[in-house]
Amino acid sequence: MAEDGTLQSIRYKRGSLQLLDQRKLPLETTYLDIRDSADGWSAIRDMVVRGAPAIAIAAALSLAVEVHNLEQFSGTPNDASSLLANKLDYLVSSRPTAVNLSDAAIKLKEVISNVVATAADAETVFQAYIDAAEIMLQDDVASNKAIGSFGASFLRDHLKASPQLSVLTHCNTGSLATAGYGTALGVIRSLYAEGILQKAYCTETRPFNQGSRLTAFELVHDKIPATLIADSAAAALMNAGRVNAVVVGADRVAANGDTANKIGTYSLALAANHHGIPFYVAAPLTSIDLSLSSGQEIVIEERSPKELLNTRGGLGEQVAASGIPVWNPAFDVTPAKLIAGIITEKGVITKSGDAFDIRSFVQKAAAPLIV
Ligand code: MRU
Repeated sequence: MAEDGTLQSIRYKRGSLQLLDQRKLPLETTYLDIRDSADGWSAIRDMVVRGAPAIAIAAALSLAVEVHNLEQFSGTPNDASSLLANKLDYLVSSRPTAVNLSDAAIKLKEVISNVVATAADAETVFQAYIDAAEIMLQDDVASNKAIGSFGASFLRDHLKASPQLSVLTHCNTGSLATAGYGTALGVIRSLYAEGILQKAYCTETRPFNQGSRLTAFELVHDKIPATLIADSAAAALMNAGRVNAVVVGADRVAANGDTANKIGTYSLALAANHHGIPFYVAAPLTSIDLSLSSGQEIVIEERSPKELLNTRGGLGEQVAASGIPVWNPAFDVTPAKLIAGIITEKGVITKSGDAFDIRSFVQKAAAPLIV
């Protein structure tokens, strides 16, 4: 349990990392020891830990633990730097769609290359890496709380909730998908804390059921008023006038605002658009990939047919007809034109005219404050 009482997927203290095995939730709460980057890679690939920010941090920390516990390293600072860079590349290969993982690897490599030229020994390089990975863990919670706060104020002011509003969300974007608090679920948490939330609706999120297993678990745990729906019930729920806004997370936001997120997000955006319901993405700036001009360039991970053929997202017994071919993309891309705003830790990106100017927003957000 985190200090704020929410569930914690990542337990870390220097030299030791444990990940909550999210495949077992909500039936069992089991933490797995992660001793090195190989353990980290498998935990990410096998969905022990999932959610864009959480996999980036888990990857970074798995390597921090590995180098902290190295019994002996007789190499030079350059050798230490190469070891770290190679292992970061390996960790990035675990899942392709979420940009947070490669963004973290790029930033960590920058830290290493800044230190390596003047480092007296390999230990100094490793220590700089460990410090930087630990800062990522701390920064993520603060950033999610800011997303929650900006999102709740924005929705309160723009949706003229009277007096409360109901929000539909998809997949799991909560404390389990991040270092704590969550992104889209962080907005829901903030709405609830401010007394503005009437109800959260969460989808099952087939086939891996992140919604029914994880988001529902977090909502029940935090006693937030909520109802679970089948993915296929979303349009009917909107048509019944029971949803004021849709808020989802993101795995990668292209420069034009096209957003990759859990499969089914695009269908929700289409249904919301048809019903005149605003659709928002809540994500840290680390989910924005300015190197891609549009969502067409985003690589979409395809996962095992077993996730569809068997119960419990592939972990239970087979229920589908043997021999049926399966297409199982883990994510889809929602075009920017269906997105009303992108809620970040630096404020909400809205459109000027028909388009987002994400590049300018990011540049302004990164500019140092002049006092
Ligand atoms: O396959 P998953 O469970 O890693 O997919 C997670 C999502 O799609 C989330 O919406 C996204 O990563 C944002 S988590 C804050």
